[in-house]
Amino acid sequence: MEFFATASSGTEKALQSELIELGFKSVRFNRGGIPFLGEIEEGWRACLCSRIAQRIQLVLKRFPASNERELYDGVKNIDWKPFLTPEHTLSISAFCHSSNMTHSGYIAQKVKDAIVDQLREAHGARPNVDRDDPDVRVFVFIGSNKATVYLDLSGEPLFKRGYRLEKGDAPLKETLAAAMLMYSEWDRSVPLWDPMCGSGTIAIEAGLWARNIPPGIFKERFGFERWANFDDKSAGKMRLLRGEGRRNANGKMPKIIASDSDPKILETAKANAQRAGLKISFREDRIEDIQADGGRRFVITNPPFGERCGVEDDFYRKMGAAFSRLHGCRVAFLSSNPLAIRSVPVKESKVVEMKNGAIDCFFSVYDIL
Ligand SMILES: C[S@@+](CC[C@H](N)C(=O)[O-])C[C@H]1O[C@@H](n2cnc3c(N)ncnc32)[C@H](O)[C@@H]1O
Repeated sequence: MEFFATASSGTEKALQSELIELGFKSVRFNRGGIPFLGEIEEGWRACLCSRIAQRIQLVLKRFPASNERELYDGVKNIDWKPFLTPEHTLSISAFCHSSNMTHSGYIAQKVKDAIVDQLREAHGARPNVDRDDPDVRVFVFIGSNKATVYLDLSGEPLFKRGYRLEKGDAPLKETLAAAMLMYSEWDRSVPLWDPMCGSGTIAIEAGLWARNIPPGIFKERFGFERWANFDDKSAGKMRLLRGEGRRNANGKMPKIIASDSDPKILETAKANAQRAGLKISFREDRIEDIQADGGRRFVITNPPFGERCGVEDDFYRKMGAAFSRLHGCRVAFLSSNPLAIRSVPVKESKVVEMKNGAIDCFFSVYDIL
């Protein structure tokens, strides 16, 4: 089976490395996501174990679709009965570019017609659409008049881990935090510090990774567990997979520190870390006041930016000065603000362009001598 692990823009390389490290087969590079091959259980394992993927999708079929007839027939030729019955609900999302068909809403409508017509012919009744919480999510992409139909395994996007019930003003997606950790080349043994931790996402993702806790372990169920063909035998296999994940969650966590100038947000971060089952050292501290405490640290953070976290004019100058005092540390941060990026008086050892939501950002890595 062919899978596609979707990635937010700029995280593809990190996701590719992660999937190779996790032992997935035929992992290739693609913009927007990473394809890999395997039995269906490998798709389940990817949902449970990938820290960086946004969604895991199964490629059901590729076919020419230069008009609505070809699209309808192509979708109707897929056997949908293993995935849904008239009692299931479904949602369809469509994307298109450089094709005769240009209206994604209309494409989604045609795809839905083909699926429900097939099921009505087979069962005499049809499944309903539920856009908010469907049992089965179908994604259709049409590029250069060729359609690819994907079935989503994840259900809710994978960044919704389940441990972060409370967040600050500008929380990072957990998957983005995990990609930053991967790009920073943190080896999971050097102490790590997020000095502007907000709701604690980077520190918590670091702790989960170091302890080898599968990020999907907090989720009650994935999308594929609601498919029609997910029977008792499948449920048994999934229980084993979750059990194995829990048993292997025995990695040694180095000291992880999370600080912030806002005492209220620190309470939120503490509650999130507790839900994730991690012992993180929290403290109230202003970035301007931080000092090196002797040892090597990975300082990975996401400074305030833009309107949501207004900062004083000389904030980034002070931040750069604070970072340059951290001799022997690797400092890495994600920012869209040129002042932040220019604030550290050292040349970057690495820069990765990434998007944080809709915002173009740079993840800049510095080795402070
Ligand atoms: C973009 S948010 C970090 C979001 C975080 N990564 C998360 O996922 O929730 C920036 C954080 O910097 C903190 N901050 C602002 N000024 C600060 C300062 N002078 N020293 C330390 N932290 C500061 C804010 O309180 C805010 O929590």
